[in-house]
Amino acid sequence: MLAPVEPANVFEYEAAAAELLDPAAYGYFAGGAGDELTLRDNVEAFRRLQLRPRVLAGVGDPSTAVTVLGAELALPVLVAPVAYQRVAHPDGEVAMARAAATAGTAICLSTLATSTPEDVAATGATRWFQLYVFRDPGLNAELVARARDAGFTALVVTVDTPVLGRRERDVRSGFTVAQHIEIPALGRGGITPAQALELISPSLTWRDLEEFAATAGLPVIAKGVLTAEDALLAVEHGAAGLVVSNHGGRQLDGVSATIDALPEVADAVAGRIEVLLDGGIRRGADVVKALALGARAVLAGRAPLWGLAVDGEDGARRVLELLRAEVQMALQLTGVRTPDGLTPAHVQRRR
Ligand SMILES: Cc1cc2nc3c(=O)[nH]c(=O)nc-3n(C[C@H](O)[C@H](O)[C@H](O)COP(=O)(O)O)c2cc1C
Repeated sequence: MLAPVEPANVFEYEAAAAELLDPAAYGYFAGGAGDELTLRDNVEAFRRLQLRPRVLAGVGDPSTAVTVLGAELALPVLVAPVAYQRVAHPDGEVAMARAAATAGTAICLSTLATSTPEDVAATGATRWFQLYVFRDPGLNAELVARARDAGFTALVVTVDTPVLGRRERDVRSGFTVAQHIEIPALGRGGITPAQALELISPSLTWRDLEEFAATAGLPVIAKGVLTAEDALLAVEHGAAGLVVSNHGGRQLDGVSATIDALPEVADAVAGRIEVLLDGGIRRGADVVKALALGARAVLAGRAPLWGLAVDGEDGARRVLELLRAEVQMALQLTGVRTPDGLTPAHVQRRR
């Protein structure tokens, strides 16, 4: 028998995960809202951009390290908040956090995680907490205090989910988190994504974000900004950063790919707060394009998740290491010694 072949890239990890996962679970992780136009465009938009490499730049062995909210990370790719990771692998977010720690990056833990913040803290990974703001203010205060006490260093408030996008794969499959997989924030399992989202406030405003920024005792990052107008409001209302994100194409179908929205957001922010991006990151070259257009770092959701599904902690770590190696090679071949040497002049639209 041939030895099993290690997936060579993120797309092959996805194919292997699709073989292994229950079809309803795979549909939940892979799918997007509506016609999945934005889901596909997040990936395709990176391909409409080309790199403009400079040669003979004497770059040697470039560093992939970046500083994000004061923390030095070995690569400009953080693990995005993804709910219900124990559905992908029994070790769930704890394995993902260990993988992030080994790779030298940070994990953003979802409110709808299936591991506790304390168990994730015990891995020693640099950690941020993603908050879905619940209708119940007491629960919000409790979650924020718990994250702060467990050494989470940023509060990532998701601003693009007043209601759950209609994900037709889940409507068809009836995807439900199994009863035995507990979501600590809710104190239960046996729930559909739509049922969980009914607990979330549909009427969050910038004033609420400002309130979190003033009271959380943690820097607040607004996750889900796609326009210059909202980027200015994030700056005005006390955010320490924002994530240009369309929730991986899972919320409003038909919005722009995140990489296409990045330039106007980066222009509007003009360096006053940190700009991050997620959506469609599958290759190191995607990361380099995002950094060139103004992101300090990116987050990847599905990419490390496919690694987790295939081989737990080791699989997630291999995906992160693969991305790091691809980023390093892309820097080397672009002629840049460090990520902050990238500028918009390193990218052009495909002619
Ligand atoms: C299965 C799945 C679950 C997600 N759960 C959350 C979540 O709980 N909170 C959140 O803010 N974003 C969530 N997201 C969005 C991600 O944080 C991120 O924006 C998106 O995955 C980026 O796109 P990518 O998967 O192409 O990297 C989820 C995404 C996926 C694919």
